Amino acid sequence: MFAQLFRTKPVEIGRHSGLKKCLSAFDLALLGIGCAIGTGIFVLTGIAAANYSGPAVVLSFILAGLAAGFAGFAYAELAASIGGSGSAYGYTYVAFGEFFAWVIGWILLLEYGVGAAAVANGWSGYFINTLANFNLHIPDVWTKSPGQGGIINLPAFGIIWLLTIILISGVKQSSQVNNIMVAIKLGTIAIFLAIAIGHINTDNWQPFMPYGWFQPQENGNNIGILAGASLVFFAYFGFDAVSTAADEAKNPQRDLPIGLIAALLFCTLIYILVSGVLTGVVHYTDLNVSSPVAYALSKLGYSWSSTLVATGVLAGLITVLLVLLYGLTRILYAMSRDGLIPAAFSKIDPDRQTPTRLILFCGAIISVVAGFFSLGTLAETVNIGTLASFVMVCFGVIILRIRQPDLHRPFKNRWNPLIPVLGIISCSALMAFLPAETWHRFIIWVIVGIAVYFLYSMHHSKLRQPR
Ligand code: ALA
Repeated sequence: MFAQLFRTKPVEIGRHSGLKKCLSAFDLALLGIGCAIGTGIFVLTGIAAANYSGPAVVLSFILAGLAAGFAGFAYAELAASIGGSGSAYGYTYVAFGEFFAWVIGWILLLEYGVGAAAVANGWSGYFINTLANFNLHIPDVWTKSPGQGGIINLPAFGIIWLLTIILISGVKQSSQVNNIMVAIKLGTIAIFLAIAIGHINTDNWQPFMPYGWFQPQENGNNIGILAGASLVFFAYFGFDAVSTAADEAKNPQRDLPIGLIAALLFCTLIYILVSGVLTGVVHYTDLNVSSPVAYALSKLGYSWSSTLVATGVLAGLITVLLVLLYGLTRILYAMSRDGLIPAAFSKIDPDRQTPTRLILFCGAIISVVAGFFSLGTLAETVNIGTLASFVMVCFGVIILRIRQPDLHRPFKNRWNPLIPVLGIISCSALMAFLPAETWHRFIIWVIVGIAVYFLYSMHHSKLRQPR
């Protein structure tokens, strides 16, 4: 039995996947930027500044960026030497074997599924704001989760269903559409920065660190810059999607590392600029709103640009949502092909050539989660999963260097031995700063996953069957 738990899959790089190799390093970087820039910067910055970090939310973004950066290097090494589109799930299968791969796959489901629900919540905030600019108001009970005193967040629920239908009809996430959407998102940010930068009032940056570095609260909800970093880490989640495009990259061994690192550096820079300017134009105590970037512009008297920015954000968040939903179905599909979840999940509808049932199943569950939970709760739940998978990827690098020292590693640098260790330390630290309740939800999810593995997956794994 133990042999089965630790049985590994072979390295996938260089295999012919049948997919067209058409993406350059530039396309890959845009893919990462397209998936990463979203609710984290457009919504959570406000929540984090108001409740966790104050104007020092800039430091929270830098710290979270560092942790993501270390993990980014680990991803780059594995993507270049292992390949395959399974991302952390696939790498863990090669480095640690089936059991850990299952656990990571299970965590990725939480990450992508709940991530989509969280972004739908962020989308809803800007949607309501845009309607309000046209004097259309939805009653609060239909825009807030039960935990916030409402009945359901209907826009968040609805957008998931809309995208589910689009995905079922076979819309492919094409890199050209992605590039246009990234341009819209960056244009929105440029408009905001261009207008707001001249209105910075440095008094708004005082006090800079109102909540200090870290203050544990009695209710388990920590505050301070470090807790803020654990929350805004959500803004970096998604850049790892670059590694899922390994099969479609023209020259994966060179372009994947470049794409990953370029996306991360660019996002970090944008996050520092936006959070610094935002807290410079509006006092952090006023930023606990669902569309802080648009709010800041309307507060400065630019209501037309506030509507423009909100519309840009709405369009930009849709790509993040599409990628997350698509990524979720892709991971489930990979796990199903490996036999770890039922084959029904990898059944393709012959007419539409999409896994229709799988997409419907995901849409149904995520729409309910999006409608009934608040953004902060969802984002923290996603972050703990993302951080756990980053820690595993960093461990994977170390283990693989020991187990397969001669594996061809095109992406190497002289800090190689240190980086995965720093990744493990920084990502574990960010996990430690998350609220106790988030930990409870995470532990329950992992325990359920382990039970599913022993009851079902290990008995149906394709690796078990004689090859
Ligand atoms: N990083 C993505 C966002 O912030 C998921 O929306």
